[in-house]
Amino acid sequence: MAARTAPKQTTPPTLEASADGRSIRILDQTKLPHDVRFTTLRTSDDAARAIVTMQVRGAPLIGVTAAFGLAFALRKDPSDAALSAAFRALLETRPTAVNLRWALEDVRNRVAPLPPAQRAAAALAQARDMIIEDTSANRRLGEHGLALLKKLAARKKSGDALNVMTHCNAGATATLGWGTATAPVYLAHESGLQVHVWVSETRPRNQGGALTAWELASRGVPMTVVTDNAAGHLMQRGLVDAVIVGADRVTARGDAANKIGTYLKALAAREHSVPFFVAFPGSTIDWTIRDGVAEIPIEQRSPDEVTCVAGATESGGRAKVRITPPGVAARNDAFDVTPASFITAFITERGVCRASGAGLRRLYPEMTAKS
Ligand code: MRU
Repeated sequence: MAARTAPKQTTPPTLEASADGRSIRILDQTKLPHDVRFTTLRTSDDAARAIVTMQVRGAPLIGVTAAFGLAFALRKDPSDAALSAAFRALLETRPTAVNLRWALEDVRNRVAPLPPAQRAAAALAQARDMIIEDTSANRRLGEHGLALLKKLAARKKSGDALNVMTHCNAGATATLGWGTATAPVYLAHESGLQVHVWVSETRPRNQGGALTAWELASRGVPMTVVTDNAAGHLMQRGLVDAVIVGADRVTARGDAANKIGTYLKALAAREHSVPFFVAFPGSTIDWTIRDGVAEIPIEQRSPDEVTCVAGATESGGRAKVRITPPGVAARNDAFDVTPASFITAFITERGVCRASGAGLRRLYPEMTAKS
C-alpha cells in the first residue's frame, strides 16, 4: 500500500498524538485568534473536558478527540465496563455533531471483540488512522469542490474574483486538516483561481470572525468579515456567487444541521438563486434518521454566550462584556437544520451529489441497507 502522508498546513495542527501514544496535544481554540496556545490531554476525562469547553470543536475534530479519549480510557482499564462507561461519557459531551458517535462506534467496534490486553493499542491505532483519514478525505472533498468552483468562475467576467460565502468555521481548525467548506477554497487559491470569501461572523461564539478569518488570513486568501445579518443584503446585490458551509449531521434523506444561522443563509440563497453547497465527509452522515428538523438533537448552550461578548482589548488584554441589560432572558440554540430541498448539492470525499437520499446512496452504496 502506498504511504499516506498528511498534506502541509499553514496553521498549526489542531491535534497531534505524542510518539508514545500516551497523550495528544491540541490547539486551544478558546484562545484563538489572539493567542496560539496548546494543551496536552492525557486521559479520557481530559478529552471530554476539552470537547465540552470547546477547546476543540468542529464535528470531525470532536470525533477524533473522543476516539483518543476512548483509547486513553482503555489504557487505564481495558474491561468491558470501562469501555462502556468511557464511551457514554464521551458521547454525552456534545449532542449535535454525529461524527462524535461515528468515531466512538468505530473504535468500539474495532476493540470490543479483542482480548482486553490488546484493546488500548488497537484503539490508539484506530484513532491515529482517523487523523490521516480525515485529512485526506477533506483533501479529496476539496478537489471535487474545486471543480464546482471552476465552473462558477468560468461564468464571471475575466479579472473578477469568485465570491464565496461561508458560515461558522468548517475549516482546517474544525478538522484534522484542510477543513470541509474551506478545502475547495484553499485549492482554488493555490491553483491561481481568483477567489474571495465572505466570512460571516457567526454569533454568538464568532467562529467565523475569529477562526475562519484567522485561517484564511494565515493562508493569504482574500476575505472580508461581515455580520451574520449581511448575507441576504449581499446576495440581493449579486455579490455572492456561492455559499459553502460544513455540517454537523446530515440525515439519510439529506437534511443538514450546521451552526445556527446556516438555514437563514439557505433561505436567502434560494430567493436569490445563489448555489448553496454543504461540504462534509461520510462520517457526518447519520444513516439512522431521515427528518432533520424532527430528529436531530440541537445543542442548547449557555444564554451567557448571547448576552455577553468576549474578545481582545485595544491594549492586548482579554475582556468579556455584557451587551444586554442584566437578567434578560436569552436562548442559545447552537445549530439549525437546513432541509435538503434548499441545498444545491453536497460536496463529499467521494464526489458531488444531489442533496437527497438517492444522491447520498449513489456515493455510499454500502450504506443502502441502513437507510
Ligand atoms: O459549535 P462548533 O464550533 O463545534 O460548530 C461547528 C460547525 O457548525 C461547523 O460548521 C461543523 O462542525 C462542520 S466542521 C467541518
